[in-house]
Amino acid sequence: MTEDAELLAHYVERGQEPWNVSLEASWLDFELRAWVKPRLPERWPVTACNIGIGVGLWDDWLGHELGVAITSIDSDPDICRRFRLRQVRERHPHPAIVRCFDASTGVLGAGRFDVVTIVGSTLAEAVDRAALERRAFAALVPGGVLLIADVGNREPPPDADEVRRLGEIWVAFRARTA
Ligand SMILES: C[S@@+](CC[C@H](N)C(=O)[O-])C[C@H]1O[C@@H](n2cnc3c(N)ncnc32)[C@H](O)[C@@H]1O
Repeated sequence: MTEDAELLAHYVERGQEPWNVSLEASWLDFELRAWVKPRLPERWPVTACNIGIGVGLWDDWLGHELGVAITSIDSDPDICRRFRLRQVRERHPHPAIVRCFDASTGVLGAGRFDVVTIVGSTLAEAVDRAALERRAFAALVPGGVLLIADVGNREPPPDADEVRRLGEIWVAFRARTA
């Protein structure tokens, strides 16, 4: 498939999915960004990492908000390739440094980032949630912050700092400082 055809297929698939244009998805985007924004480090430049790209709209926003090229990690090579291509074609002002690996392994490294985010369904999709969270925390510099927003429709985790709900959907936030 050519790059143009791959990108077009991505936009069509994204637009066809009812969730992507739902009120709930917009609510979730708003809640995620409103909670994270005041917790981002104020210094610039800042080293930032997001684990779990998906369609990549979170990574787009974080790069814009921080004004830097964040590091975006996903274990799915197709997702990594498409996201890299889309950001370049859309002329994102700070295209992410995209890395493709399972972030619950040692590849993420230690003491590298001022902020790491894990949002949306990433933790729920992870094969080993605890290992992913542990590795993300270890990747922070001293004083760095891990921002987690876990989403679901059963019961939110009991150790959440804050929970917001819209109907059956909840988003549970946790912040941990290294
Ligand atoms: C569906 S996306 C949602 C996350 C996205 N930030 C959002 O809010 O739209 C979840 C992504 O996490 C990735 N993922 C799950 N576990 C992972 C892991 N251990 N390491 C890296 N990526 C992972 C999946 O491949 C998937 O692309």
